[in-house]
Amino acid sequence: MPSSLPHSILEQRLRRAVGEVLPSANLDTVQVRPCPDPKHGDYQCTALIGLAKQARLNPRAFAQEVLAAYQRLQQSGGDASIEVGMVPEIAGPGFLNFRIDVRTSLLPAALAGADRLFCEPARPPRTVVVDFSSPNVAKPMHVGHIRSTTLGDCLQRAFRSLGHRVITDNHIGDWGTQFGKLLVGWRHGLDRAALEQDPIAELERLYRTENAAGEADPSRLEMARQELVKLQSGDPENLAVWKEMIRLSQVQFDAIYGRLGVTFDHTLGESFYNPQLPEVVADLMARGIARESEGAVAVFSDGSLPPKEDPFLVNRDGEWVPDPALIRKSDGGFNYMTTDLATLDHRIRTWAPDEIIYVVDDRQAPHFRKLFLTFARWKPEAAARTRLRHIGFGKILGDDGRPFRTRSGDTIRLAELLDEAVERSQRLVDEKRPELPDATRRQIAETVGVGAVKYQDLLPNRQSDYVFSWDKMLALTGNTSPYLQYQCTRAGKVVREGGPVDRTRLASAVPTEEAEIVLLKYLLNYGLTLESVVAECRPNYLCNYLYELAGHYSRFYEACPVLRAGEPVRTLRLALCDLTARVLQDGLRILGIGAPEVM
Ligand code: ARG
Repeated sequence: MPSSLPHSILEQRLRRAVGEVLPSANLDTVQVRPCPDPKHGDYQCTALIGLAKQARLNPRAFAQEVLAAYQRLQQSGGDASIEVGMVPEIAGPGFLNFRIDVRTSLLPAALAGADRLFCEPARPPRTVVVDFSSPNVAKPMHVGHIRSTTLGDCLQRAFRSLGHRVITDNHIGDWGTQFGKLLVGWRHGLDRAALEQDPIAELERLYRTENAAGEADPSRLEMARQELVKLQSGDPENLAVWKEMIRLSQVQFDAIYGRLGVTFDHTLGESFYNPQLPEVVADLMARGIARESEGAVAVFSDGSLPPKEDPFLVNRDGEWVPDPALIRKSDGGFNYMTTDLATLDHRIRTWAPDEIIYVVDDRQAPHFRKLFLTFARWKPEAAARTRLRHIGFGKILGDDGRPFRTRSGDTIRLAELLDEAVERSQRLVDEKRPELPDATRRQIAETVGVGAVKYQDLLPNRQSDYVFSWDKMLALTGNTSPYLQYQCTRAGKVVREGGPVDRTRLASAVPTEEAEIVLLKYLLNYGLTLESVVAECRPNYLCNYLYELAGHYSRFYEACPVLRAGEPVRTLRLALCDLTARVLQDGLRILGIGAPEVM
């Protein structure tokens, strides 16, 4: 189906024009994007400069020729189903800027695309695996997991929304040396009642107690080591206890995921890959990619990168020394890296993805660089077909600029954080809307509270650290989720009062007020915004888009009466309210945030 969105009609036509002038050009690079500064136009194409340079042409002269070809095509109009007036202009060294001519049939074109909210399905759709959240068994999910969970969930929703095939996999940490201590603790000091009350807290307590005991008494450490060996060699009793610990942890993870509205297609924890690990190591050794070193097995640099870019080297006192990736410990145990290699191999063989995204904090960046490089040496063909991306993120800080913790210095549990957010928003709702029924106020408080925590996390550039602030995140003004939710209810209310939009009336309506035009043009960019979110894995683009949209809507609503206007202006304005409400709601949905009907 041909597109009806102005920017895509423009892009198609521009590609044809470039093809006519320079048949050798790679037309995929010719992209039309919103103009960064609306003073210069609505859309912009910057690709011609690069193409001209490659072909050794003068960029401005080339742009002029392309523009002439573009105008010939525009006049003949035969290449697009809907005519959209575009006024082009050459700027700077050879950019093309375009301004939508609102007197032409912009509005019908825009509204024809409105059913899909100005989004075009990805062509071709890609298969994308998203690895996110991935907490560790027997440990509470803490604020550090909130970023992976909110970012990962938003990204998977954005990919799906554009028609990509998405597979989400929660790579939980359900294996490792900590289980030796946990098993000893379970045998000697388990408090059944506490376990029933709050399993993860009790498991955490067991681990701490055992850790301290091990430090005081080496025989206790030896006990833990033996329990671990028994577990690893398949001792049924230890396996049963270990499985129970996983089950109990999963129940608590699921409670939080339920509250956050997060689901996974698969939860294949680290232990799932245990049977593969000996083979992974043997194969890497046989291929000469890994070798023994001081009793352990490790992957070293292959010297193919300059030292500065080589993750297998570190600089110590001005000298580059090896920083290998360990894949087998000297006691025969396997490493995080070994499991990740097996996991990557499994994912590619099972799902044949075009892309795998790991949403994991930036401190693990060296791990992922080593993982991707090792995999490329191990399975070059599979690696060449699959784009591997570590989507890193920064820390959450407290007021003091240090990692966010409780007053006593403990890590803050995610469950408690959500409780507090909801309590705080409950107070606000109770104060502002006492007339609403209790159940409604409780629902609003949950949606607003949880949404505020998520939005605060999604709004900053993901690589920056941010300071956690209750007051900022729950404010009804400024770039916050309560503000967006509120604007969404406001726009929705107008539509409910004004009745459904009669589309037949729209054909004769042309926006004339500046505020109408600005809002309409901005709405058209929703799909492009999602495309850039997906391209760079940056949800903050969507947050900022929605915030700007809410601002344009407010200005429009102040300047242009809706329900009191005569036809066809009334219908046009009602359609703008309707589209704003739907785009805000959809955008919030992709951020993983609910939109209450009243607030
Ligand atoms: N469980 C790990 C942690 O909490 C994160 C796992 C991320 N995913 C992966 N494939 N390594 O640090």
